[in-house]
Amino acid sequence: MNLYRLVRPVAFALDAETAHHLTIKALRFFPPHRPPPLPKSLRSRVAGIDFPSPVGLAAGFDKNAEVPEQMLTLGFGFVEVGTLTPLPQEGNPKPRLFRLRKDRAVINRMGFNNCGQPVAYGRLQLDMRMPGVIGVNIGVNKDSADRIADYAAGVRAMSEVAKYLTINISSPNTPGLRQLQDEGALRELLAAVKEARPRNGPPIFLKVAPELGQGEPDQIVRIAVQHGVDALIVANTTVSRPVLKSRYASQQGGLSGEPLKPLALKALRDFRAASGGEIPLIGVGGIANADDAWERIRAGASLVQLYTAMVYEGPWIGLRIARGLAQRLKREGFRNIAEAVGTERT
Ligand SMILES: Cc1cc2nc3c(=O)[nH]c(=O)nc-3n(C[C@H](O)[C@H](O)[C@H](O)COP(=O)(O)O)c2cc1C
Repeated sequence: MNLYRLVRPVAFALDAETAHHLTIKALRFFPPHRPPPLPKSLRSRVAGIDFPSPVGLAAGFDKNAEVPEQMLTLGFGFVEVGTLTPLPQEGNPKPRLFRLRKDRAVINRMGFNNCGQPVAYGRLQLDMRMPGVIGVNIGVNKDSADRIADYAAGVRAMSEVAKYLTINISSPNTPGLRQLQDEGALRELLAAVKEARPRNGPPIFLKVAPELGQGEPDQIVRIAVQHGVDALIVANTTVSRPVLKSRYASQQGGLSGEPLKPLALKALRDFRAASGGEIPLIGVGGIANADDAWERIRAGASLVQLYTAMVYEGPWIGLRIARGLAQRLKREGFRNIAEAVGTERT
């Protein structure tokens, strides 16, 4: 019996942001404990980090690093908190978060609402004593005069409390942010990030948009490898609008969930083709079950992340998918996840 079936109608009766707020509040009461045991075949080492399972919680759910350990306890192999900006900020006016139930999707235009890096640092300092992989996703303040300096400040501020750092240049809700994916800007940004990263600092991941132009994945891979980026997260939400059924379909913002799946999978395949396995990839976008996760791993993802499917399927989704992946590995004769990465025939 999936308990979430009982809770969901209550949560869905509330507006999406209120439901999210109450969920985080409730999770804070839940004492973190040892995560459920997972099959050894799910363990892998990516970018020098040991992951107990390849199924992670994507950025945006725990923006303020309030419940990362609770999410690990629920069975996610890793949790990415943030996006955190140097200074706290309110984000865009409400409403800014919409459930598209008929499409099993979400549109958000939150705009990096968060408590700021110093407050999150204090919380994460306590969490660092526990085992478990908690990554920190960093961004820029909306009115920042120097965006590259904001990222460098974020790297300096959060390195000590992050198992990895994600440079998020792909949110569609901070105007102009995605232009940092352009060649010149990206080189400048990654050089500044490299310089800011302390010696023995955490690995650096770069999170990209799903709708890139011809040749862009090749260019991004080349620049990322040159600047020592440790992994690419493919991808963020989309500003494109596939055919949607819900009444919120024309809301502005980033679309996530099921309708993002084909686009995110294609983007992953493009990055795999561009990199040939030279840099680890993390597949995100529309993953809702073990088949989706398996497809992403076979297409070249060393790890996967999800967020929107948890809204529809409940908090144990990470654990369910992990167990499903272990079954698929066994069935298809792979000893571990690493062996299955990039094995799809094209
Ligand atoms: C409400 C919401 C807020 C998000 N906030 C962030 C964020 O702050 N930083 C970020 O890198 N991605 C953010 N994302 C994007 C997710 O991390 C993920 O890349 C995207 O939703 C696709 O995965 P999904 O289809 O499994 O949700 C957010 C997504 C949602 C739905």
